[in-house]
Amino acid sequence: MALKITVIGTGYLGATHAAAMAELGFEVLGLDVVPEKIELLSTGRVPMYEPGLEELLAKHVAGIEGSSGRLRFTTSWEEIGAFGDVHFVCVNTPQKHGEYACDMSYVDAAFASLAPVAREGALVVGKSTVPVGSAERLSALLPEGVELAWNPEFLREGFAVDDTLHPDRVVVGVRSERAEKLLREVYAVPLAEGTPFVVTDYPTAELVKASANSFLATKISFINAMAEVCEAAGGDVAKLAEAIGYDERIGAKFLRAGIGFGGGCLPKDIRAFMARAGELGADQALTFLREIDSINMRRRGQMVEMAREAVGGGSFLGKRVAVLGATFKPDSDDVRDSPALNVAGQIQLQGGQVTVYDPKGMENARRLFPTLVYADSALDAVRGADVVLHLTEWREFRELSPEELGAVASSRVVLDGRNALDPERWREAGWTYRAMGRPAA
Ligand code: UDX
Repeated sequence: MALKITVIGTGYLGATHAAAMAELGFEVLGLDVVPEKIELLSTGRVPMYEPGLEELLAKHVAGIEGSSGRLRFTTSWEEIGAFGDVHFVCVNTPQKHGEYACDMSYVDAAFASLAPVAREGALVVGKSTVPVGSAERLSALLPEGVELAWNPEFLREGFAVDDTLHPDRVVVGVRSERAEKLLREVYAVPLAEGTPFVVTDYPTAELVKASANSFLATKISFINAMAEVCEAAGGDVAKLAEAIGYDERIGAKFLRAGIGFGGGCLPKDIRAFMARAGELGADQALTFLREIDSINMRRRGQMVEMAREAVGGGSFLGKRVAVLGATFKPDSDDVRDSPALNVAGQIQLQGGQVTVYDPKGMENARRLFPTLVYADSALDAVRGADVVLHLTEWREFRELSPEELGAVASSRVVLDGRNALDPERWREAGWTYRAMGRPAA
């Protein structure tokens, strides 16, 4: 008999994981404590923009015409407990308000609700990003006969479906051969395709996630630090990144200099990692992450200064600034800790008249920054602008016609905060193109 799987928490991670498990052939029951989310998911829709996810849900959600019917959703813990052989816990672990540490209240609440209803022999699998030591603590909350495994998730927003169905690796922290065997069964399809399967203990599994995100953040802040030096020395960070990236030990990916990283993961995960290391007495090992964080945050201010220079070097008062991009990265509608909105907000606070446009992030941006002005298209945002800031590298922005924008802008100055536009195209259309870490032409 095929395993029955439950997924607890249906945010980015959970909704994608639930759909992927159904795609792999399992019967899946997803739970969320927010009834509106369950209603939406039950009709095959998601409360966020993630390419391919609604299509995958429509393929499997019970009740949708032509679906496999393998995926259902509920708000009932009893139903979850009675149904599941394997329970994946995918709830959110945000940064605590005003602190670096991670807020474990959703994870704790999920375990408290699951423990009394899980069947004897069930396996609970934690996927949320948690401070090292959490699995050990949480396993003690489960009743006799219900085991815990830790299985961190590495999916990226914008590629969530593909990353879940075709992961680079599957990492599991287990305490028994039975738990390992069950997880090999769950991941049988990717494992058969050759996906590496790393079996380890709880703390190592938890640390893999924290260290992977720290490494990625370090790579971005490293190239941004090089951008700062390039700016001072007249070098070109894009060429530098290309040249060092040819060294396979360094690798070309994640070396795009610009206004830095944001989102719901990298910033809060490196902070939570520092906080946890401090509790363990290992804070010295991670002091470099403080520098990574500060290089990253500094980029936003530097973008503001570049914009100030572009509008004459003094005040932003009376200046019109077009901001292209609101989300923290393209192909997502997520504006959490978005560098683009942070820059837009700073300029507005300094008196600039900022108009923002984003292909998918407008609704969330309006909610978070209701005082910014929003336009319905890139062209409308740029109309009358003294300077154009390119802050999220959507394909739509790369495909814009600099000629068309030039005809409506008040001044043809574009600042590329993501090093993603083609300088030649913009310069040929009469624009002054400036990018972070690169010399002015
Ligand atoms: C990240 C990790 O990649 C993923 O493995 C983990 O599971 C969750 O956190 P995500 O937050 O979706 O995923 O975004 P990612 O693609 O990693 O980008 C993070 C930020 O870094 C974005 O703001 C992006 O614009 C920025 N970035 C990325 C750069 O500034 N330069 C780069 O070269 C790459």
